[in-house]
Amino acid sequence: MRSGSLNLPVNFLQIIFLKEMKKNSNKKFKVLITWQSIIKKIKVYKKILNKNNISYDCKQPKQCFSSSELKKYIHQYDGVICGDDDFNSDVLSKAKKLKVISKWGTGIDSIDSVAAKKMGIKVFNVKDAFTDEVATYAVGILIYLTRGLGELNINKTRKWTKYTGESLIGKNAGIVGHGRIGVKIEKYLKALGCNVFINDIKKIKRKKKKFLTI
Ligand SMILES: NC(=O)c1ccc[n+]([C@@H]2O[C@H](COP(=O)([O-])OP(=O)(O)OC[C@H]3O[C@@H](n4cnc5c(N)ncnc54)[C@H](O)[C@@H]3O)[C@@H](O)[C@H]2O)c1
Repeated sequence: MRSGSLNLPVNFLQIIFLKEMKKNSNKKFKVLITWQSIIKKIKVYKKILNKNNISYDCKQPKQCFSSSELKKYIHQYDGVICGDDDFNSDVLSKAKKLKVISKWGTGIDSIDSVAAKKMGIKVFNVKDAFTDEVATYAVGILIYLTRGLGELNINKTRKWTKYTGESLIGKNAGIVGHGRIGVKIEKYLKALGCNVFINDIKKIKRKKKKFLTI
């Protein structure tokens, strides 16, 4: 995760609300914050939010808020900083004041962006959040499976069993989607000695890539 990207969800709100304030400088905004990383550091953001006429409620779900929970209180808010909370069209239809949804993370599958666009609600995401975490996790799983690390079960048995598994050196590895995460995974797999093949819906112009067709 790039340092400073934690500020982005708050910056996105500022951009949208500044436009509103140009029309009415006394306008006040109310924001719902559900994402734990921001909630934990709310003291850091308090000043900047207040300076921009933004008051906030922090409500932290166990994992993420369901649409039925969001429907109860979304009507009060001009903006949200959320995680994977379920902003489906039903929730958005109740969000009469909402101008901006700022997602802390990459994927916006939990937000009905078509419905949001129709209602003039801007949707932002943080494009490189967790890129490295996801890439290392994917490669970690690959090593776990090929080397049979699960078979060791060290935590339970407290024994070091020799389990050879399979080497990754010289193996053919395919990556579907050569974006931020795909590029990182390619780098790690090449370092492990794999032959890497790429598939991406967009034509990749980079030279010396081996392509995978599916
Ligand atoms: N679970 C998490 O914590 C987490 C974190 C980050 C990203 N993600 C998800 O991982 C995925 C990739 O993230 P990213 O940041 O690398 O995105 P990205 O936009 O940088 O890259 C995605 C790539 O996939 C390609 N692509 C799209 N559809 C394709 C298809 N049908 N066939 C082949 N290629 C296709 C695109 O052209 C693009 O190059 C996204 O779905 C994102 O939401 C999950």
